[in-house]
Amino acid sequence: MREKLQELRELAINSINNVIELTELENLRVKYLGKKGELTQVLKGMGKLSEEERPVIGQVANEIRVEIEEAMNKVKENLKNKTLTEKLTKEKIDITVTNRVKKLGHRHPLLATIEELEDLFISMGFKVLPGPEIENVKNNFDDLNSPDNHPSRDLSDTFYITEDILLRTHTSPVQIRAMKEYGAPLRMVSAGRTFRFDDVDDTHSPMFHQIEGLVVDEKISMANLKYTLDVFIKELFGKDMKTRYRPHHFPFTEPSAEVDVTCLSCRGEGCPVCNYTGWSMELLGCGMVHPQVLENCGIDSEKYTGFAFGMGVDRITMVKYGLKDIRLLFDNDNRFLEQF
Ligand code: PHE
Repeated sequence: MREKLQELRELAINSINNVIELTELENLRVKYLGKKGELTQVLKGMGKLSEEERPVIGQVANEIRVEIEEAMNKVKENLKNKTLTEKLTKEKIDITVTNRVKKLGHRHPLLATIEELEDLFISMGFKVLPGPEIENVKNNFDDLNSPDNHPSRDLSDTFYITEDILLRTHTSPVQIRAMKEYGAPLRMVSAGRTFRFDDVDDTHSPMFHQIEGLVVDEKISMANLKYTLDVFIKELFGKDMKTRYRPHHFPFTEPSAEVDVTCLSCRGEGCPVCNYTGWSMELLGCGMVHPQVLENCGIDSEKYTGFAFGMGVDRITMVKYGLKDIRLLFDNDNRFLEQF
C-alpha cells in the first residue's frame, strides 16, 4: 500500500507540474483529492490493514495530501502571475510615441490692442458690451438714420446674406442694441469684427476690426467728447500726442468729425510715413449722437444728448507697432506673431 501511495504521489505531482491552464488544475484536484478521487480510494482500502500499519500509512497518506495541495497552490500562483504578465504586455500603451510638444502661445497683437482699449474705457466708467457680426439692416443702417440711398448700403459695399440680414459694416449697430436694452444714461464700448466689400491691399481687408464708444446722459456736449478722446489717445500713444478734429459727415452723428493724431514715426516733425504732414490720418470718426437716433431707440432727445465714436483697431495696432501691411495681422504666420 505504501508503494501504491508513492506511485500516486509521483504521478500527481508530475501532472500538476505540467499543467498550463487553471481549469486543468481543477480537474486534477478532483481526480486525486476529490470525494471519489484516487487518494481517497486508496485510503478506503485502509480497513484491510493491520492495527500497527494503519496509523503509519494514515500519516503517509496525509503527508502526500499536503504535498499535492502545496504543489497545486504553487502552480496556481505561477499561472495567475503568468496570465497577468501576458495581459499587461498585451494591453501596454506606448506613451512615448506621440510625445508632441505643446507650445504656449500668447495674445494676438489685435486682441492685445482691444483689451488695452477696453481696460482704458473701463477705467473711465464705460461698460464693455458684445454685439453680433451678423446684423439686420435695421440696426446697421435704418435706426442709425442712414438714408435709403446712402452709398454704404450698396451691394457693392456691403455683404448681404438676405435682403434684411448682412455682415455688419461697422460696430455702430451695437449703439442701437445698447440704447434699446439699457436706455439712458449709458456709457459703453464694444469691439469686434466688421466687414466691407473691399479688395485686399496693404491697408485694406474685407474683414477688419472696430471699437465703438457711446455716452448718453443729460448735458453731454462736444467738450465731453473731445476731453474723453484726448485722454484716451494720450494714454494709448503717449502724453505728447496732439489731436486734430476735422469736420466730417456721418448720418448718425451731428455734428460729426474725423480725428487725426500726431504721427508716431516723427512725432509731428513731418516724415515719409505721414506724407510730411506730421499727422496720422483718420484714426477715428466721432460726433454728437443725432437726436433722431436717440428717438429711434426710445430715448427722449429733449432730455438726453450723447456722443459716439468708432475707430479702426487694425489701424491703431499698425500705428502702435509700426506695421506697414494690414495682411500681416491676418496671415497667422508664427514668424510674425512671435515678435509680440
Ligand atoms: N461707424 C463709423 C464708421 O465706421 C464711425 C463712427 C462711429 C462715426 C461712431 C461716428 C460715430 O466709419
